Order: sequence, then C-alpha cells, then structure tokens
Amino acid sequence: MKTDILLGLQWGDEGKGKVVDVLAPNYNIVARFQGGPNAGHTLEIAGKKHVLHTIPSGIFHSHVLNVIGNGVVIDPTSFVAEIKEIEALGTDICKRLVVSKRAHLILPTHRLLDAYSEAQKGKKKIGSTLKGIGPAYMDKTGRNGLRIGDIMEKYFSKRYHDLLDKHKKLLGSFEYDDKALAENEKKWMQSIEFIRKSLLCTDTEYLLNDALKQGKKILAEGAQGSLLDIDFGSYPYVTSSSTTCAGACIGLGIAPSLIGSVEGVFKAYCTRVGSGPFPTELKDETGERICQVGREFGSTTGRKRRCGWLDLPALKRSIMLSGVTSLDMMKIDVLDDFEEVKICTHYIVNGEKTDCLPYNLSEEIVPVYKSFKGWGKLAASGNYNSLPAELKNYIGFIEDAVKVPVKLVSVGPDRSQTILR
Ligand code: IMP
Repeated sequence: MKTDILLGLQWGDEGKGKVVDVLAPNYNIVARFQGGPNAGHTLEIAGKKHVLHTIPSGIFHSHVLNVIGNGVVIDPTSFVAEIKEIEALGTDICKRLVVSKRAHLILPTHRLLDAYSEAQKGKKKIGSTLKGIGPAYMDKTGRNGLRIGDIMEKYFSKRYHDLLDKHKKLLGSFEYDDKALAENEKKWMQSIEFIRKSLLCTDTEYLLNDALKQGKKILAEGAQGSLLDIDFGSYPYVTSSSTTCAGACIGLGIAPSLIGSVEGVFKAYCTRVGSGPFPTELKDETGERICQVGREFGSTTGRKRRCGWLDLPALKRSIMLSGVTSLDMMKIDVLDDFEEVKICTHYIVNGEKTDCLPYNLSEEIVPVYKSFKGWGKLAASGNYNSLPAELKNYIGFIEDAVKVPVKLVSVGPDRSQTILR
C-alpha cells in the first residue's frame, strides 16, 4: 500500500482540514507531517465549527488513528488544551492519537524568542503567528532541541533547564514578564505529564511503515501551503518547515517510492496572512468583498487575511514541486454573485511576459488577468453536472492550464457541501 498526501498549494488556509475530514472515512490513518500550532484546520460538522492546530483532521472519525509525525513541532500546553476541548464533547480521543518520539517540543521560551525576533525585524517582520515555530525549528537544526522521546528520560529536567538558560541568554535585554513565564512553564510541565501518562509516544516511522505493509491506508496531512515552504516559498516571508510533498517523506519517515496520490488543495481565489509579496493582492473593494464574504480571518490568530485573484503561475509551480495528481477547489461559493471573476495567467516582470515565479517576488510584478463571467448563485449541494456553465468553464480553464483534474469542489464549509467528481 502507498501513502496518499494532501497539501495546500497557496499561502495556507486553503481548507485542508475540511478535505481531510471528508476523505478520512477512506483511510485507516491520518498523519500530520510538519508545522505545529501555527496551523488552524477548520472543520464544520453538523453546523458546529472545530479548529484543530496540532491534532490531525481525522480525529472526528472513530476508526481513524491520528499520528503526529516527527516533522511536527509540539507545544504541549496548546496540544493538551486542544485534546481536552475535544474530549469535553464526549469523545475519548487519546486512544486515537499517537505521537512520534522524534517530534520536537516548543518551549515557553521559544514563544518569547519568536516575539523577540519579530521585534528586532521591525518593519521587515515576517508576521509570524508567534507560536514559537521558527525558534523551535532553529533549535532542531541547531541540534539543541528537546523531543517528545526525551520526556520519558531521567535527564529531561536537566536538559530542559540547560535549554532554558540558553534561551534566557539569547533573550538578553528583551523585556518579558518573568511571572507570566513561570506560570507558562508550570502549565507546560503539567501538560508534559499528561502526554507522558495518557498518550502513546512511539517510533511512528515503524508504526506507519508496518501499517503500509499490512495494507492499511494512510493519508498524510500537510499544514500551511507550498508558497510558505522554507525552500520554495517567498523567503524570508515563509514558515520554517517543508510544506511540499517531500516534507511528508521527511516528516513521517516514509520513502518516496511509497507515495501514492498527491492531492493539492487551493481556493478559487488567493489569500495571505502575515507579511510578504502577494502578486495578485486586491487592495480595493473587491478584495474587501472577498474577505468579508469568505470570512477571511485567521483561525489561529484572528488576523484579517489579504485577498486577491487566483494566481495560476504560482499554482502551476506548487503543482510541479509536489507532483500533484489531483486538485480540490475550495470556497467557490465565496465568488457567487460576482459579475466578473479573474484569473492571473501570467506576469510581466522587467517588461517580459512569463508564467514562472521570479526569484525575487518582491520586485515589481504586473499580473496579467483573464476575465470570466460570474456564475450567479450556487445551490448548497448537488452534483458536478448541475453546476452553472460559467463555473464549469472557470474550472475547465484552470484544468487545461495546469493539466491536473479538479476532483473535489467545495461549495460551503460543511462536510455535506462537497461535490466529488
Ligand atoms: P510562523 O510559521 O508562525 O513562523 O509564521 C510564518 C508565516 O507563515 C507568517 O506569515 C504566518 O502568517 C504564516 N503562517 C503560518 N502558519 C500559517 C497557516 O497555517 N496558515 C496561513 N499562514 C500561516
């Protein structure tokens, strides 16, 4: 058996959580492979909204085992709070959750270091979610990090305090509230205790590969999006992990030869939260309309998302980087009632027409748009054939341009508002 992958092709917030939840009944395991509580995967079930940050989006299906892979960074406090919130709904999810011993820990001081780094950058700040993601990955690659497996060891407390001392030195004169830090450390240690006692923490690379050998089906769930990838995103305005298909191999311990289909999720338009270049951004009434109708406010930070038209050069590149085999098109209903809808087909860079992303996305890029007639109002459900001709034309144009089929169309936030082709 092979592992299927589902990932975001834009700047995150594409609606991956909803798609994983819809697809989960076909899988035995859902596994997160990178990122951490900077993610906010929103699922709407029977009209009730759930936002997941660290827990994989298969958690609401009782037969699905949810694995948090080695590539993820975990903040024990927010992770345990998330578990308790779901358990309060009457579901004992601890048995459905497994954590890699190799996943790195986000310490309370990582969050302070994140705030410090942003403050130092001033106007050039990344617009981080301030969840300590960057500093935790820096400690991982700097070979200073603490991992979930360490919490079982006698040396844990000593290593924690050694790392804390290092962080305090790095924080230098940066002002922070000592009392609040002490309080956060207390909660953090209590959460570590909860993880130690209540969750299976293991070598998930064996668990996943054994499951494949037994014929079990695995869905690898990405966080953020390809345009925020540490290597291929709009650096330095990116996150600190590998958000493309290769990240799933590294973040789970699954060989490239064991990857099956790669499903790419994208919105019918583009959004970006935080700083950094955004070639098709609309700083006008149309952008505001998309923001309001699409309720484009961050599910982790509540920040307003910047909105713009669909960017085909960027989408094509994301598809290329991950070898995407099928597409899921989200939030089509947000563009209902627009008289005109646009797609950026090319850019003009230094006077030349191109459909490649330039190395420096911050230089002047003029998007070239193709205009489409709007499709009026969509029915809340139905099948693909019942969609308006204008919308099928819009989807067909994208498929022709990127040479990958759109297999799922989402026409609303609920599980039921999904059209599978
Ligand atoms: P960090 O990952 O919190 O350091 O944030 C780095 C950049 O990635 C910032 O621009 C964030 O707004 C963005 N970012 C991080 N996680 C997400 C996400 O899940 N969705 C959308 N943007 C994100």
